[in-house]
Amino acid sequence: MDDERISVTELTIERLPEVVALCRRGLDLAEDAAEAETIVDTVYRRARVDRPVVGLLAVRGTKPVGVLVCSVAGQPDPPGAAYGCVDLVVVAPEERRRGVGRTLLAYAERWLAERGAREVLLAGNPPYYAWPGIDVRYTPAVCAVLALGYRQDRTAWNMTADLSYDDSPALRSTTEAERRLATVGVTVRRAEPADLPALTAFARDTFGGAWDRELVGSVGRAGAGCHVAWRDGAVVGFAAWGSSRPSWFGPMGTDPAAVGSGIGSVLLRRCLRDQRAAGIARAQIGWVGPVPFYSGSAGARIERVFLLYRKDISPDRTQTGQEPE
Ligand SMILES: CC(C)(COP(=O)(O)OP(=O)(O)OC[C@H]1O[C@@H](n2cnc3c(N)ncnc32)[C@H](O)[C@@H]1OP(=O)(O)O)[C@@H](O)C(=O)NCCC(=O)NCCS
Repeated sequence: MDDERISVTELTIERLPEVVALCRRGLDLAEDAAEAETIVDTVYRRARVDRPVVGLLAVRGTKPVGVLVCSVAGQPDPPGAAYGCVDLVVVAPEERRRGVGRTLLAYAERWLAERGAREVLLAGNPPYYAWPGIDVRYTPAVCAVLALGYRQDRTAWNMTADLSYDDSPALRSTTEAERRLATVGVTVRRAEPADLPALTAFARDTFGGAWDRELVGSVGRAGAGCHVAWRDGAVVGFAAWGSSRPSWFGPMGTDPAAVGSGIGSVLLRRCLRDQRAAGIARAQIGWVGPVPFYSGSAGARIERVFLLYRKDISPDRTQTGQEPE
Protein backbone atom coordinates (compact mmCIF):
# COMPACT_ATOMS: atom_id res chain seq x y z
CA MET A 1 0.00 0.00 0.00
CA ASP A 2 1.26 3.42 -0.96
CA ASP A 3 0.68 5.12 2.39
CA GLU A 4 2.98 2.67 4.18
CA ARG A 5 6.34 4.24 5.02
CA ILE A 6 9.59 3.24 3.40
CA SER A 7 12.06 1.53 5.69
CA VAL A 8 15.56 0.26 4.98
CA THR A 9 16.77 -3.13 6.16
CA GLU A 10 19.94 -5.07 5.59
CA LEU A 11 19.65 -7.55 2.76
CA THR A 12 19.93 -11.24 3.59
CA ILE A 13 20.66 -14.16 1.29
CA GLU A 14 17.06 -15.46 1.59
CA ARG A 15 15.73 -12.29 -0.02
CA LEU A 16 17.98 -12.48 -3.08
CA PRO A 17 15.23 -13.87 -5.36
CA GLU A 18 13.11 -10.78 -4.59
CA VAL A 19 16.08 -8.55 -5.35
CA VAL A 20 16.68 -10.32 -8.65
CA ALA A 21 13.01 -9.83 -9.57
CA LEU A 22 13.27 -6.14 -8.65
CA CYS A 23 16.42 -5.72 -10.78
CA ARG A 24 14.76 -7.45 -13.75
CA ARG A 25 12.03 -4.81 -13.61
CA GLY A 26 14.17 -1.86 -12.56
CA LEU A 27 17.26 -2.10 -14.75
CA ASP A 28 16.01 -0.07 -17.69
CA LEU A 29 18.52 -1.47 -20.19
CA ALA A 30 17.37 -4.87 -21.48
CA GLU A 31 20.89 -6.30 -21.66
CA ASP A 32 21.37 -5.62 -17.93
CA ALA A 33 17.87 -6.78 -16.92
CA ALA A 34 18.56 -10.07 -18.74
CA GLU A 35 21.63 -10.66 -16.56
CA ALA A 36 20.06 -9.46 -13.30
CA GLU A 37 20.58 -12.77 -11.55
CA THR A 38 24.32 -12.92 -12.35
CA ILE A 39 24.78 -9.25 -11.50
CA VAL A 40 23.27 -9.69 -8.04
CA ASP A 41 25.20 -12.90 -7.52
CA THR A 42 28.51 -11.26 -8.49
CA VAL A 43 28.27 -7.99 -6.59
CA TYR A 44 26.58 -9.38 -3.48
CA ARG A 45 26.95 -13.12 -2.89
CA ARG A 46 30.37 -13.76 -4.47
CA ALA A 47 31.91 -10.43 -3.44
CA ARG A 48 31.04 -11.05 0.25
CA VAL A 49 33.59 -13.85 0.43
CA ASP A 50 36.43 -11.43 -0.28
CA ARG A 51 35.54 -7.95 0.95
CA PRO A 52 33.15 -6.05 3.25
CA VAL A 53 29.83 -5.76 1.40
CA VAL A 54 26.39 -4.67 2.50
CA GLY A 55 23.10 -4.95 0.68
CA LEU A 56 20.38 -2.48 1.64
CA LEU A 57 16.77 -3.19 0.88
CA ALA A 58 14.18 -0.41 0.84
CA VAL A 59 10.76 -1.85 1.63
CA ARG A 60 7.29 -0.37 1.65
CA GLY A 61 5.48 -2.51 4.18
CA THR A 62 7.12 -5.81 3.26
CA LYS A 63 7.43 -5.16 -0.46
CA PRO A 64 10.94 -4.45 -1.77
CA VAL A 65 10.97 -1.16 -3.68
CA GLY A 66 14.69 -0.49 -3.95
CA VAL A 67 18.05 -2.15 -3.47
CA LEU A 68 21.62 -0.92 -3.10
CA VAL A 69 24.81 -2.95 -2.77
CA CYS A 70 28.04 -1.26 -1.72
CA SER A 71 31.49 -2.46 -0.75
CA VAL A 72 34.74 -1.32 0.72
CA ALA A 73 37.20 -0.97 -2.15
CA GLY A 74 39.89 -3.57 -2.63
CA GLN A 75 42.61 -1.55 -4.30
CA PRO A 76 43.07 1.93 -2.89
CA ASP A 77 43.39 4.52 -5.67
CA PRO A 78 45.48 6.51 -4.93
CA PRO A 79 47.29 4.07 -2.63
CA GLY A 80 46.53 4.72 1.01
CA ALA A 81 43.16 6.35 0.34
CA ALA A 82 40.21 4.57 1.90
CA TYR A 83 37.12 4.48 -0.23
CA GLY A 84 33.99 2.55 -0.91
CA CYS A 85 32.00 1.77 -4.03
CA VAL A 86 28.31 1.61 -4.83
CA ASP A 87 28.04 -1.56 -6.89
CA LEU A 88 24.32 -1.58 -7.63
CA VAL A 89 21.36 0.71 -7.02
CA VAL A 90 17.91 0.10 -8.42
CA VAL A 91 14.50 1.51 -7.52
CA ALA A 92 11.25 -0.03 -8.78
CA PRO A 93 9.90 1.99 -11.75
CA GLU A 94 6.64 2.87 -9.95
CA GLU A 95 8.54 4.14 -6.89
CA ARG A 96 10.90 6.59 -8.60
CA ARG A 97 11.23 10.26 -7.63
CA ARG A 98 9.97 9.58 -4.12
CA GLY A 99 13.34 9.73 -2.39
CA VAL A 100 14.08 5.99 -2.27
CA GLY A 101 17.38 6.31 -4.15
CA ARG A 102 18.38 9.29 -2.00
CA THR A 103 17.63 7.34 1.19
CA LEU A 104 19.56 4.25 0.06
CA LEU A 105 22.62 6.29 -0.96
CA ALA A 106 22.59 8.14 2.38
CA TYR A 107 22.57 4.80 4.25
CA ALA A 108 25.39 3.51 2.03
CA GLU A 109 27.51 6.60 2.64
CA ARG A 110 27.07 6.20 6.40
CA TRP A 111 27.88 2.47 6.29
CA LEU A 112 31.03 3.12 4.26
CA ALA A 113 32.10 6.06 6.46
CA GLU A 114 31.78 3.80 9.53
CA ARG A 115 34.26 1.44 7.85
CA GLY A 116 36.79 4.19 7.26
CA ALA A 117 35.90 5.29 3.73
CA ARG A 118 36.61 8.94 3.02
CA GLU A 119 35.23 8.82 -0.50
CA VAL A 120 32.44 6.97 -2.27
CA LEU A 121 32.94 5.97 -5.88
CA LEU A 122 30.20 5.12 -8.31
CA ALA A 123 32.58 2.96 -10.26
CA GLY A 124 33.33 -0.70 -10.83
CA ASN A 125 35.06 -2.34 -7.87
CA PRO A 126 36.97 -5.25 -9.48
CA PRO A 127 36.95 -8.18 -9.44
CA TYR A 128 33.24 -8.25 -8.55
CA TYR A 129 31.52 -5.57 -10.59
CA ALA A 130 28.73 -5.30 -13.09
CA TRP A 131 29.66 -2.00 -14.79
CA PRO A 132 32.71 0.32 -14.82
CA GLY A 133 30.40 3.23 -13.90
CA ILE A 134 26.94 4.53 -14.80
CA ASP A 135 25.97 3.81 -18.41
CA VAL A 136 25.16 7.22 -19.96
CA ARG A 137 21.76 5.86 -20.99
CA TYR A 138 20.73 5.50 -17.32
CA THR A 139 19.90 9.20 -17.42
CA PRO A 140 17.82 9.23 -14.18
CA ALA A 141 20.81 7.76 -12.36
CA VAL A 142 23.11 10.45 -13.76
CA CYS A 143 20.60 13.13 -12.66
CA ALA A 144 20.20 11.54 -9.22
CA VAL A 145 23.88 11.26 -8.39
CA LEU A 146 24.58 14.83 -9.52
CA ALA A 147 21.72 16.00 -7.30
CA LEU A 148 23.23 14.03 -4.40
CA GLY A 149 26.64 15.72 -4.55
CA TYR A 150 28.70 13.33 -6.67
CA ARG A 151 31.09 14.78 -9.23
CA GLN A 152 32.08 13.23 -12.51
CA ASP A 153 35.51 11.74 -12.46
CA ARG A 154 36.55 9.49 -15.34
CA THR A 155 34.93 8.00 -18.44
CA ALA A 156 35.06 4.35 -19.45
CA TRP A 157 33.72 2.37 -22.37
CA ASN A 158 33.04 -1.14 -23.52
CA MET A 159 33.34 -2.48 -27.04
CA THR A 160 30.74 -4.78 -28.54
CA ALA A 161 31.75 -7.82 -30.58
CA ASP A 162 28.92 -9.02 -32.78
CA LEU A 163 28.58 -12.81 -32.48
CA SER A 164 25.18 -12.99 -34.13
CA TYR A 165 26.25 -14.15 -37.63
CA ASP A 166 28.70 -16.77 -38.90
CA ASP A 167 30.84 -14.41 -41.00
CA SER A 168 31.40 -11.93 -38.18
CA PRO A 169 35.04 -10.78 -37.92
CA ALA A 170 34.78 -11.69 -34.23
CA LEU A 171 34.36 -15.35 -35.20
CA ARG A 172 37.16 -15.57 -37.81
CA SER A 173 39.01 -18.88 -37.60
CA THR A 174 42.19 -18.96 -35.53
CA THR A 175 43.54 -22.16 -37.11
CA GLU A 176 46.03 -20.55 -39.50
CA ALA A 177 47.28 -18.08 -36.86
CA GLU A 178 47.73 -20.94 -34.36
CA ARG A 179 49.74 -22.89 -36.93
CA ARG A 180 52.01 -19.87 -37.38
CA LEU A 181 52.40 -19.50 -33.62
CA ALA A 182 53.31 -23.20 -33.31
CA THR A 183 56.25 -22.61 -35.66
CA VAL A 184 57.69 -20.18 -33.11
CA GLY A 185 57.02 -22.53 -30.19
CA VAL A 186 53.75 -21.00 -28.93
CA THR A 187 50.82 -23.30 -28.17
CA VAL A 188 47.34 -22.17 -27.22
CA ARG A 189 44.74 -24.12 -25.29
CA ARG A 190 41.83 -23.80 -22.90
CA ALA A 191 42.93 -23.14 -19.31
CA GLU A 192 42.27 -25.83 -16.68
CA PRO A 193 42.00 -25.29 -12.92
CA ALA A 194 45.50 -26.80 -12.56
CA ASP A 195 46.85 -23.87 -14.65
CA LEU A 196 45.64 -21.27 -12.15
CA PRO A 197 48.86 -20.92 -10.12
CA ALA A 198 50.92 -20.28 -13.28
CA LEU A 199 48.23 -18.01 -14.74
CA THR A 200 47.76 -15.85 -11.69
CA ALA A 201 51.53 -15.59 -11.16
CA PHE A 202 51.94 -14.46 -14.79
CA ALA A 203 49.13 -11.90 -14.48
CA ARG A 204 50.50 -10.58 -11.19
CA ASP A 205 54.13 -10.38 -12.30
CA THR A 206 53.34 -8.85 -15.67
CA PHE A 207 50.39 -6.58 -14.97
CA GLY A 208 50.19 -6.12 -11.19
CA GLY A 209 47.89 -7.87 -8.74
CA ALA A 210 44.43 -6.95 -9.97
CA TRP A 211 43.36 -9.96 -12.04
CA ASP A 212 43.83 -12.99 -9.76
CA ARG A 213 40.20 -13.20 -8.71
CA GLU A 214 38.86 -12.63 -12.20
CA LEU A 215 40.99 -15.52 -13.43
CA VAL A 216 39.73 -17.72 -10.61
CA GLY A 217 36.20 -16.69 -11.60
CA SER A 218 36.79 -17.66 -15.23
CA VAL A 219 38.69 -20.93 -15.21
CA GLY A 220 36.54 -24.04 -14.94
CA ARG A 221 33.37 -22.17 -13.94
CA ALA A 222 30.07 -22.65 -15.79
CA GLY A 223 29.21 -19.64 -17.98
CA ALA A 224 32.85 -18.55 -18.08
CA GLY A 225 36.17 -19.58 -19.61
CA CYS A 226 39.79 -18.78 -20.24
CA HIS A 227 42.37 -19.57 -22.91
CA VAL A 228 46.10 -19.47 -22.39
CA ALA A 229 49.22 -19.32 -24.57
CA TRP A 230 52.42 -21.12 -23.55
CA ARG A 231 56.04 -21.06 -24.71
CA ASP A 232 58.72 -23.30 -23.19
CA GLY A 233 56.33 -24.30 -20.40
CA ALA A 234 55.69 -20.68 -19.38
CA VAL A 235 52.53 -18.61 -19.79
CA VAL A 236 52.93 -15.85 -22.39
CA GLY A 237 49.32 -14.70 -22.62
CA PHE A 238 45.75 -15.30 -21.49
CA ALA A 239 42.23 -14.15 -22.21
CA ALA A 240 39.19 -14.75 -20.01
CA TRP A 241 35.45 -14.22 -20.14
CA GLY A 242 32.41 -14.48 -17.90
CA SER A 243 33.97 -13.86 -14.50
CA SER A 244 31.56 -11.03 -13.65
CA ARG A 245 28.89 -11.49 -16.32
CA PRO A 246 28.56 -14.20 -18.99
CA SER A 247 28.35 -11.71 -21.86
CA TRP A 248 31.46 -9.83 -20.71
CA PHE A 249 34.92 -10.55 -22.05
CA GLY A 250 38.12 -9.82 -20.12
CA PRO A 251 40.62 -9.50 -18.68
CA MET A 252 43.33 -10.41 -21.15
CA GLY A 253 47.06 -9.86 -21.33
CA THR A 254 50.04 -10.80 -23.50
CA ASP A 255 53.64 -10.80 -22.35
CA PRO A 256 54.98 -7.39 -23.50
CA ALA A 257 57.91 -9.19 -25.15
CA ALA A 258 55.46 -11.15 -27.34
CA VAL A 259 53.08 -8.31 -28.25
CA GLY A 260 52.54 -8.09 -32.02
CA SER A 261 52.98 -11.82 -32.64
CA GLY A 262 49.25 -12.48 -32.98
CA ILE A 263 48.81 -14.25 -29.63
CA GLY A 264 46.25 -11.77 -28.35
CA SER A 265 43.87 -11.97 -31.28
CA VAL A 266 43.91 -15.78 -31.17
CA LEU A 267 43.12 -15.78 -27.44
CA LEU A 268 40.43 -13.13 -27.90
CA ARG A 269 38.63 -14.95 -30.71
CA ARG A 270 38.83 -18.30 -28.89
CA CYS A 271 36.95 -16.70 -25.99
CA LEU A 272 34.44 -15.01 -28.28
CA ARG A 273 33.80 -18.38 -29.93
CA ASP A 274 33.09 -19.86 -26.47
CA GLN A 275 30.71 -17.01 -25.74
CA ARG A 276 28.83 -17.61 -28.96
CA ALA A 277 28.60 -21.32 -28.13
CA ALA A 278 27.11 -20.25 -24.78
CA GLY A 279 24.33 -18.47 -26.69
CA ILE A 280 25.67 -14.92 -26.43
CA ALA A 281 24.95 -12.80 -29.50
CA ARG A 282 26.81 -9.64 -28.49
CA ALA A 283 29.90 -9.90 -26.32
CA GLN A 284 30.88 -6.91 -24.22
CA ILE A 285 34.61 -6.28 -24.11
CA GLY A 286 34.57 -4.57 -20.75
CA TRP A 287 36.32 -1.39 -19.68
CA VAL A 288 38.79 -1.19 -22.61
CA GLY A 289 41.66 -0.70 -23.28
CA PRO A 290 43.30 -0.88 -26.67
CA VAL A 291 40.49 0.10 -29.04
CA PRO A 292 42.48 -0.49 -32.28
CA PHE A 293 43.40 -4.02 -31.14
CA TYR A 294 39.78 -5.05 -30.49
CA SER A 295 38.55 -3.29 -33.60
CA GLY A 296 41.16 -4.99 -35.76
CA SER A 297 41.03 -8.45 -34.18
CA ALA A 298 37.27 -8.82 -33.79
CA GLY A 299 35.60 -5.92 -35.61
CA ALA A 300 34.43 -4.68 -32.20
CA ARG A 301 32.82 -1.23 -31.87
CA ILE A 302 32.65 1.20 -28.98
CA GLU A 303 29.05 1.19 -27.77
CA ARG A 304 28.48 1.36 -24.02
CA VAL A 305 29.94 4.45 -22.39
CA PHE A 306 30.07 4.89 -18.64
CA LEU A 307 30.56 7.92 -16.43
CA LEU A 308 32.39 7.37 -13.16
CA TYR A 309 31.56 9.54 -10.16
CA ARG A 310 33.01 10.20 -6.74
CA LYS A 311 31.98 12.02 -3.58
CA ASP A 312 34.05 13.13 -0.63
CA ILE A 313 32.48 11.86 2.62
CA SER A 314 35.44 12.59 4.89
CA PRO A 315 34.53 14.38 8.12
CA ASP A 316 36.70 17.37 7.07
CA ARG A 317 35.26 17.70 3.56
CA THR A 318 34.93 21.16 2.09
CA GLN A 319 33.11 20.13 -1.06
CA THR A 320 29.54 21.32 -1.26
CA GLY A 321 26.93 18.71 -1.91
CA GLN A 322 23.95 17.09 -0.33
CA GLU A 323 24.64 15.66 3.10
CA PRO A 324 23.32 12.25 4.10
CA GLU A 325 19.99 12.66 5.84
C1 LIG B 1 18.74 6.01 -10.32
C2 LIG B 1 17.57 5.60 -9.42
C3 LIG B 1 18.08 4.53 -8.46
C4 LIG B 1 17.11 6.85 -8.63
O1 LIG B 1 16.14 6.42 -7.67
P1 LIG B 1 14.92 7.37 -7.17
O2 LIG B 1 14.35 6.73 -5.97
O3 LIG B 1 14.01 7.65 -8.30
O4 LIG B 1 15.71 8.70 -6.78
P2 LIG B 1 15.18 9.85 -5.76
O5 LIG B 1 13.70 9.93 -5.81
O6 LIG B 1 15.79 9.62 -4.44
O7 LIG B 1 15.82 11.12 -6.44
C5 LIG B 1 16.78 11.95 -5.82
C6 LIG B 1 17.05 13.15 -6.70
O8 LIG B 1 17.68 12.74 -7.91
C7 LIG B 1 17.24 13.54 -9.01
N1 LIG B 1 16.55 12.67 -10.00
C8 LIG B 1 16.18 11.38 -9.82
N2 LIG B 1 15.59 10.91 -10.96
C9 LIG B 1 15.59 11.93 -11.83
C10 LIG B 1 15.12 12.09 -13.15
N3 LIG B 1 14.52 11.08 -13.81
N4 LIG B 1 15.28 13.29 -13.76
C11 LIG B 1 15.86 14.33 -13.11
N5 LIG B 1 16.32 14.24 -11.83
C12 LIG B 1 16.18 13.06 -11.21
C13 LIG B 1 16.29 14.55 -8.42
O9 LIG B 1 17.05 15.71 -8.08
C14 LIG B 1 15.80 13.84 -7.18
O10 LIG B 1 15.35 14.71 -6.18
P3 LIG B 1 13.89 15.38 -6.30
O11 LIG B 1 12.94 14.31 -6.72
O12 LIG B 1 13.64 15.89 -4.91
O13 LIG B 1 14.00 16.46 -7.33
C15 LIG B 1 16.37 5.07 -10.27
O14 LIG B 1 16.09 6.00 -11.29
C16 LIG B 1 16.63 3.74 -10.92
O15 LIG B 1 16.44 2.68 -10.31
N6 LIG B 1 17.07 3.74 -12.22
C17 LIG B 1 17.32 2.48 -12.94
C18 LIG B 1 18.54 1.75 -12.40
C19 LIG B 1 19.78 2.58 -12.51
O16 LIG B 1 19.97 3.39 -13.39
N7 LIG B 1 20.72 2.32 -11.60
C20 LIG B 1 22.03 2.93 -11.68
C21 LIG B 1 22.94 2.11 -12.46
S1 LIG B 1 23.25 0.63 -11.57
